[in-house]
Amino acid sequence: MLTTHAVGIDLGTTNSCIAYLNEHGEPVSIANEEGEITTPSVVLFDEDGPIVGKEAFRNAIATPEFVVMNAKRHLGNSKKRWRIRGNVYTPTDIAALVLKKLLRDAEKQIGKVQRAVITVPAQFSDAQRQATIKAGLAAGLKHVDIINEPVAASLCYVLGAEGLWFSELAHSQRILVYDLGGGTFDLSLVNYEKNQVSVLASTGNLKLGGIDFNRALAGHVRKQFIKELGLDVAEDRQSLQYLAMEVEQAKRSLSARERAALSCTHAGKRKTYQVTRAQFEKLTAGLMKRTQDTTVKLLNKMNMGWAHVDVVLTAGGASRMPMVRDMLQGMSGWTLNTSLSPDQSIAHGATYYAGMLLSNSEFVHSIRNDVVVDRLAGFRQQSVSSRALGILVRDPVTGYRFPHYILPVNTPLPASVSHVYGTVQPDQRRVHLHVIESGEDDGQDFVHVGGCKVDDLPENLPVNSEIEVTIHYDAAAKVHVSAREIKSGKQATAEIDRTETPATETTTTQTPPPQKTPTPVSTPTPKSPSRNPTPVASRDIGSATGEDEFYRFFEDAGD
Ligand SMILES: Nc1ncnc2c1ncn2[C@@H]1O[C@H](COP(=O)(O)OP(=O)(O)OP(=O)(O)O)[C@@H](O)[C@H]1O
Ligand SMILES: [Mg+2]
Repeated sequence: MLTTHAVGIDLGTTNSCIAYLNEHGEPVSIANEEGEITTPSVVLFDEDGPIVGKEAFRNAIATPEFVVMNAKRHLGNSKKRWRIRGNVYTPTDIAALVLKKLLRDAEKQIGKVQRAVITVPAQFSDAQRQATIKAGLAAGLKHVDIINEPVAASLCYVLGAEGLWFSELAHSQRILVYDLGGGTFDLSLVNYEKNQVSVLASTGNLKLGGIDFNRALAGHVRKQFIKELGLDVAEDRQSLQYLAMEVEQAKRSLSARERAALSCTHAGKRKTYQVTRAQFEKLTAGLMKRTQDTTVKLLNKMNMGWAHVDVVLTAGGASRMPMVRDMLQGMSGWTLNTSLSPDQSIAHGATYYAGMLLSNSEFVHSIRNDVVVDRLAGFRQQSVSSRALGILVRDPVTGYRFPHYILPVNTPLPASVSHVYGTVQPDQRRVHLHVIESGEDDGQDFVHVGGCKVDDLPENLPVNSEIEVTIHYDAAAKVHVSAREIKSGKQATAEIDRTETPATETTTTQTPPPQKTPTPVSTPTPKSPSRNPTPVASRDIGSATGEDEFYRFFEDAGD
């Protein structure tokens, strides 16, 4: 009989890791062909085809023009492309190649893998989540589930770190997860109760990670080299790449020692510099401060002090830097819990989630321990939305569009909000909505999720016919919409067209462009504000039920 393994993948900006649950229900990292449990998320486009991992990474110096690194930072960006050897690659293509390498190497050891859980930063937008799933499918998986990285870290701590299959954590705990990876910073406050982890709040920064610490150090050395020799390494990709490698090594050394050496080579000149840990910490103090401010802000927002937090977990390779631990220890006044492996905990947490999803199916023959299967089957995880979800509405006076959020940030998932609209023209057959998410942080531009056309409304509907539109965040924070003509109960077709409005195109909320052609709308009738399963959302939408609001919410597809 076919055996389905519970497989989890940490698709990282700099490194990726794949793991599975063994027959005892323990996560085991699967080494790649080169014998290593983490694989650099780097692709070299060799003459003979793509090469992923360490060899690609090594070639980053010799042939940087054929190498793609840090592609995860661009996932979901519909405009980003790499042109190499006459071919064009999207961030999803690069992610798919990395995943393919992990899967092919793993399959040599555990057999065919058709289904896996892939981790994503909690701050990922719908577009970034969709791109991750697309990459998994392109890599050959038949089914992809995703889970937020801090939830995976918490699962790893709660289910794994202390070998808890037969005993349980004594009491409920509040866990602060501080995950500083290569490209992203994720911070989440998580509640553990018997058999459940639930995220209370999640925040972070998708453009802050170990590579930014490298850039700070490399920038400093570059300036020094210019000052002393009048030569700029940035003029040559190879010199720049060489410096990047030296910086990475030096940074890692500085986590273990007080000083490290690194050299800079360009245009036949070479210089070696000594860097102390204190100098490095000074250079990167601004980056550390940003993570510190985010931490303080999260606790303040939740009205919590450190006394409300039971454990601080660190994850991500960059959390190895002593300054991270010093900062968190200084803030909280405690010794940190560093029991999680910075490199493997996220992938291991993902395998537990894969086990939770699989354990009710007939396929889990790979785990032979009934206690483990029962525990996984009974365990639950719940995330929150890291982005507010809404609709772009139009000001009837100015014609400008602006965001109207109807599901706030940190709403427990899954969550739905429904809104009833009135049609505005006789025999109107379609409705057009612009679904949006808030930006990554307060005050940032919103992001288009896509256009949604509600099609196939019944014929001959009179003006003001009620159409209920439901926007839904599923448990993995992917966005779905549905629509229904209320009187006939007819389900209308409502699919998000993600190509219609580029998913990553951000539009400033201050000066949205006016529409070329104003929407032809007659006066709609106000309808009941919402049929709404989430109380938070109903409060929000309650403020948006005036006639004007309907005008602003509603657009005809002929628009
Ligand atoms: N000993 C160390 N000292 C300092 N930094 C380190 C050390 N070891 C690894 N790092 C840094 O950790 C980062 C990689 O961490 P990790 O593998 O957790 O990230 P990732 O999963 O690839 O990225 P992300 O989670 O942001 O997508 C790199 O920037 C690397 O330089
Ligand atoms: Mg990571």
